[in-house]
Amino acid sequence: MKMRILGTGSYVPERIVTNDDLAKIVETNDEWISTRTGIRERRITQGEGTSALAAKAAGRALEQSGVKPEEIDLILLGTSTPDKCFPSGACEVQGAIGAVNAVAYDISAACSGFIFALNTAQAFFEAGIYKKALVIGCDVLSKIVDWEDRSTCVLFGDGAGAVVVSAEEGQGYRAVMGSDGSRAASMECPSRTNDNFLTGKLPTVGFTTMEGQEIFKFAVKKVPECTGALLEANGLEKEEIKYFVLHQANYRIVEAIAKRMKLPVERFPMNIAKYGNTSGATIPILLDELNREGKLAQGDKIVVSGFGAGLTWGAALLEW
Ligand code: ACO
Repeated sequence: MKMRILGTGSYVPERIVTNDDLAKIVETNDEWISTRTGIRERRITQGEGTSALAAKAAGRALEQSGVKPEEIDLILLGTSTPDKCFPSGACEVQGAIGAVNAVAYDISAACSGFIFALNTAQAFFEAGIYKKALVIGCDVLSKIVDWEDRSTCVLFGDGAGAVVVSAEEGQGYRAVMGSDGSRAASMECPSRTNDNFLTGKLPTVGFTTMEGQEIFKFAVKKVPECTGALLEANGLEKEEIKYFVLHQANYRIVEAIAKRMKLPVERFPMNIAKYGNTSGATIPILLDELNREGKLAQGDKIVVSGFGAGLTWGAALLEW
């Protein structure tokens, strides 16, 4: 079965935090941040959590699709910043939107979370198990970065994006995903599960740490590899793809990938200047913007590809 996009939606918190705002809390400046990353501002939540952001994006995607919440039979939320250990953010979204007939759960693959969720929905469609799914990517990295660490806090923002997809007759795409747990330490954020009364310490919450240059090199190598594998597995040439919608972590990463793939950078839309790296949300937010700006026409083929902590990476093929 083939996956068809019926609607897209996104939601970002109202509060804009510019590079100049950050220069007031850590030793940095607009010139450093914008030339090295392309980021000019990001949205930061003032209390709303992942479930609230995700439910708003989901509501907008449903509204655009014309699908009623009770028609949805699968909700997948790609996130690494759920509000609670349990219930899952996906269950909270289900409750908020009234998708009473759905099964709902989270997928944890950091910035690859939306891709992994999309490919999981496609596999369920292929197996004939579910017919309509809500796939969401949402993260609030502002809650897990150290706001005294300039090397990480300037990079991230909060946001959510969602798509409503349905199974229809036709050939589904062959997905590409991968992970390398031996490189887990390259980017991590410990949760509060290390200690209990036997270790004699109170559980503590950790912050995000990252080997920036390692991740940069990994992304520039891995994304061309996995998008190439995706095209080959699906019998497509890169010229047939209208847009490559990549995880928005750094404009220099996207430019380097375009160069490595010998494609004009115009085929790689970017919105990182406005939102920073919203982790699992960057791809669906960008898809929603392209859709609402009328840049996607029926029949257009889009490759979406992400990479992140784990390490994880993956790509999916969408036909509009
Ligand atoms: N403002 C000013 N100076 C800074 C800042 C800052 N915010 N942050 C670091 N610096 C300084 C460093 O201290 C260092 O100074 P030094 O030379 O005196 O030691 C200097 O700038 C250079 O630091 P580098 O870390 O070498 O800078 P680099 O050119 O590698 O850029 C960056 C850093 C932007 C993080 C880059 O490595 C990158 O984008 N990597 C990929 C990160 C990424 O994509 N992460 C997310 C992917 S996974 C996911 O999305 C969950």
